[in-house]
Amino acid sequence: MRAAIFHEHGGPEVVRIEDVEPPEPGPGEVRIRVGASGMNHLDLWVRRGLPIETTMPHIGGSDVAGTVESVGGGVDDWAAGDRVVIDPSLSCGVCDWCRAGEEPLCDEYRILGEHTQGGFAELVVAPARNLYRIPDDVPFETAAAAPLAFLTAWRGLATRGRLRPRESVLITGASGGVATAGIQIAKHLEATVYAVTSSPHIDRVRELGADAVYDRLAGDWSKALWRATEKRGVDVVFDSVGEAGFRQAARSLAKKGRMVVYGATTGPKAELDLRIVFWKQIELLGTTMAGRDEFREVMDLVFGGALHPVVDVVWPLDRAAEAHRRLEEGLSFGNIVLVP
Ligand SMILES: NC(=O)c1ccc[n+]([C@@H]2O[C@H](COP(=O)([O-])OP(=O)(O)OC[C@H]3O[C@@H](n4cnc5c(N)ncnc54)[C@H](OP(=O)(O)O)[C@@H]3O)[C@@H](O)[C@H]2O)c1
Ligand SMILES: [Zn+2]
Repeated sequence: MRAAIFHEHGGPEVVRIEDVEPPEPGPGEVRIRVGASGMNHLDLWVRRGLPIETTMPHIGGSDVAGTVESVGGGVDDWAAGDRVVIDPSLSCGVCDWCRAGEEPLCDEYRILGEHTQGGFAELVVAPARNLYRIPDDVPFETAAAAPLAFLTAWRGLATRGRLRPRESVLITGASGGVATAGIQIAKHLEATVYAVTSSPHIDRVRELGADAVYDRLAGDWSKALWRATEKRGVDVVFDSVGEAGFRQAARSLAKKGRMVVYGATTGPKAELDLRIVFWKQIELLGTTMAGRDEFREVMDLVFGGALHPVVDVVWPLDRAAEAHRRLEEGLSFGNIVLVP
C-alpha cells in the first residue's frame, strides 16, 4: 500500500511516499481502508522526534475516517463496508483509570499514529473497540478533521474547565486545530469567547463565533482584554501556546479563574507569577486527550451538526510533506486533511 512514511526524524523533507507492506489486523482489531486522515500539531512533534521517540520507519496520522475492510479474530460487531471514525486513544481498557473513563491516565496509554503506525496511508489497523460509526451524510473529510481536536477541546473546556453558560473564556492560538474546535464548543456551552490569533486569521476566528479577537502580532493584547472585561478578567483560559504568551494569559484570569493547559507549542518553561495563583485563588488544570465517553459525546455533536470541524485544505496524500510545511509555518486554519 502507499503511505507517507519517514525513516528518520527531521524537517518536512523526511516525509516520503513509499510502497509498504499493508498492516494485518490481529485479534480484536480491524483493518480500515482510509477515506481521509487529518493532521495535527502532534504529527509535527512525532516527525521532529523531540521529545517524542517512535519506532522507525514511521507512518503518522492520528485522525482517521474510512471503511472497514477486514476484521481480526473475535470481532463480530463490525463488518466490511461499515463507515467508521477511529478514537485515537489506545488504552488497556481494564485498569482503574480506564474503568473510570479516564483512559488518558492509563499506564499503557498510547495514541494512534504517535506510538503506533497511523492513518497517512491507504490502510490502517486499530482496535475494534475504538471505532465509532459515521452517519451516511457525513463525508470522510469532515469526520477525519474532528477527533483529536474536538475530543481535546471538549475535555479541556467542558470536563476539566467546567465552562458554564454566561461565563467567559480566553482561547489563545485561535487558528489552531484544537482552538477552532474550542471556540465552537465554548459558544455551544453559551460562554463569551475572547480569542487571540495572528493577523491573517482574525476574520475567520470572528466568523467562527469569537466575541472579541486580538492580534498577537500587534503587541501585548492583555491590556485590551482587561479593559474589555471591565477589569474583571475571564473565568477560563484555554492555552497551548505555552512560553510565548503565558504571562499575558495568566494575567487575564478573573478571581477564582481556571487556567486549562493542553500543550506548549512555543516551549514548556512558561513563567507564572505565583501571586496571581494565591491572590486571585486561581486553579491550574492540565488536560490531555479524552476518555471514550467524551469522544463519543463530542462526535455526536459533530455528526448532529452542532459543531463543525474546520477543514483547512483537503490534499492528496502525495502532498504530505507540503502539508507538514503548511502546518509548521502557521499558514493553516483548522485541520489539514489528506486523502490517499
Ligand atoms: N494535551 C493534548 O491532549 C493535546 C491535544 C492536541 C494538541 N495538543 C498540543 O496543543 C498544541 C496545539 O495543537 P493543534 O494541533 O491545535 O496545533 P496547530 O493547529 O498547529 O495550532 C497551533 C497554534 O498556535 C499558535 N502559535 C504558533 N506559534 C506561535 C507563537 N510563536 N506564538 C503564539 N502563538 C503561536 C498559532 O495560532 P495563531 O496564529 O492563531 O495565534 C497556531 O495556529 C500543540 O502543541 C499540540 O501538541 C495537545
Ligand atoms: Zn488502562
